[in-house]
Amino acid sequence: MCGIVGYVGHRDCTDVLINGLSKLEYRGYDSAGIAVFNHNQKIHVAKSKGRLQNLIDRMNQDGKPTGCAGIGHTRWATHGEPSDINSHPHSGGRVTIVHNGIIENYKEIKDYLADKGVTFSSDTDTEVAAKLLDYNYNGSPIETITETIRDLEGSYALGIIFADHPNVVYAVRKESPLIVGVGENESFIASDVPAVLDYTKDYYLLEHEEIAVLTESGVQIYDSFGRKIQKELKTADWDVEAIGKGGYEHFMLKEIHEQPTAIRNTIMPRIKDGLPNLEECGITLDTLRNFRQIFIVACGTAMHAGMVGKYVIEKIARVPVIVDIASEFRYRNPIVGEGDLVIIISQSGETADSKAAMHLAKKMGAKTLAIVNAMGSSIAREADMLIYTHAGPEIAVASTKAYMVQIAVMYLFAFEMALAVGKIDEDECRRLVAMLEETPEMIERLLEKKEMTQYIASSLITADSLLYIGRGLDYALSMEGSLKLKEISYIHSESYAAGELKHGTISLIHDGMPVIAVATQKELFDKTVSNIQEVKSRGAKVILICRDSYEPETNTADLKFGLPEFDDLLMPMIAVVPLQLIAYYTSVHKGNDVDKPRNLAKSVTVE
Ligand code: AGP
Ligand code: GLU
Repeated sequence: MCGIVGYVGHRDCTDVLINGLSKLEYRGYDSAGIAVFNHNQKIHVAKSKGRLQNLIDRMNQDGKPTGCAGIGHTRWATHGEPSDINSHPHSGGRVTIVHNGIIENYKEIKDYLADKGVTFSSDTDTEVAAKLLDYNYNGSPIETITETIRDLEGSYALGIIFADHPNVVYAVRKESPLIVGVGENESFIASDVPAVLDYTKDYYLLEHEEIAVLTESGVQIYDSFGRKIQKELKTADWDVEAIGKGGYEHFMLKEIHEQPTAIRNTIMPRIKDGLPNLEECGITLDTLRNFRQIFIVACGTAMHAGMVGKYVIEKIARVPVIVDIASEFRYRNPIVGEGDLVIIISQSGETADSKAAMHLAKKMGAKTLAIVNAMGSSIAREADMLIYTHAGPEIAVASTKAYMVQIAVMYLFAFEMALAVGKIDEDECRRLVAMLEETPEMIERLLEKKEMTQYIASSLITADSLLYIGRGLDYALSMEGSLKLKEISYIHSESYAAGELKHGTISLIHDGMPVIAVATQKELFDKTVSNIQEVKSRGAKVILICRDSYEPETNTADLKFGLPEFDDLLMPMIAVVPLQLIAYYTSVHKGNDVDKPRNLAKSVTVE
């Protein structure tokens, strides 16, 4: 996905666009560009491969567009390598656009236009959309847009300007997110709220195929038939400092430290009289007791949160749970239907695969429950039931606090499910809830022990590959530890069920190879230690994440990160913190861009 910003108003448009794009760079950063109506009402385009700073440097060198209306874009390439020519904005003669998404039928449109003599300079699907808009242009932007979007298949959020309609910005979306900010004598379009928070907290959520028109006199919204419509003006509950770094070197470190607060903000409003209470989310004990099985469908870190949920729900509620990667679920013709509950976990609420999986589940008759962090996002709005996590804006591409509150919600849900099906009574439920309420303070104490994770990280930076191993909940957790390390340090790692190693993968172990062993589950501890000794005896350098009270033999671990005594069931809530910090410090040691790792984007709104 990418970042889109548009502006019409009284300020210097270029400054507003650059400022907005800087708040969205976490969404994609292969290249950046802007198109501004300058004071003689001509469109001035500036774009550059690489980070936003490259564009700023180029404008300082070649001259900065000046004007009061325009559009901007930071790209996450899907069609055409990152390059100047493939950067947005793209022009089709009289029409200039920026785009988030994938035009899935761009090849047939390109062939059709080429047959009409239209030529192309880039490899992108976006340029095809620009050329189609220009080909269809009849002097009426609204008519042109409504006609053109009927030919576009796939996903798009488009910022559009027409050369003969100066100082007017148009926007339309389908699947990819877009908001319309409304200020005092100024208006904005943006892929996400942080881009406009410096200027306004008021915004419209554009629905599929709705068209926004931004002029000096304000905003008008049309439906896909070109009819004016009225929409509810929303107010963001974020504040500006919530999207700043707050004195931390990176957003990721700030967000790791925000986890105790995020947990409190997420679980406390859902606990009444010591018991889970999810009624405001549309969930009651009666709702829950009728489900015969549960699917948890998500991507990446959110899927890992689902894996923790699986173990916990099955352990205490004894309801079968199937965890599926969303991009697999949607194409494997899953056996799901009436009586099933499909839980979609998503921080952004815009992940294309997760959204499509939810649509499929609904079509097949299942009930859907979304666990989402981004207010008003597509998945949040379309699910049958909804639990918002209250982690606040998560800016770092590598998810930490969102994961933490996702598993916190999984615990609350599991306790309520177990109560609903009679596997636990209210006293046991209150005991479990009380332990969950202890986790924020335990994490706060753990965050005071960062030095050990820095030391562990320094021992990893020369590794070219490592394993994360564990059993049960520790295995589920090791998946998240492995992904965190990979995505921000670029060191290959793999999470492996400790008991499965001897069936092949143990052949990878060589002298000095780091193995991070997560061993928090008492009932599985001895077996995990045996597996650890198997790799240790073959030369592995073992880093053990376990309770402080355990003193490993020299034949078991080289380094240990000690955890406080806590109930096995909730250990993931605290054991994940050293894994996050180890990944963070390894990335810092390697000099990587921790918050915006290469090739990644915060929310993948394309397939
Ligand atoms: C998390 O560290 C990753 N950046 C990524 O795996 C992410 O969890 C995944 O893309 C799902 O995103 P979502 O939660 O917004 O749906
Ligand atoms: N598909 C378009 C491209 O590759 C837009 C990608 C994006 O969302 O940034 O340029």
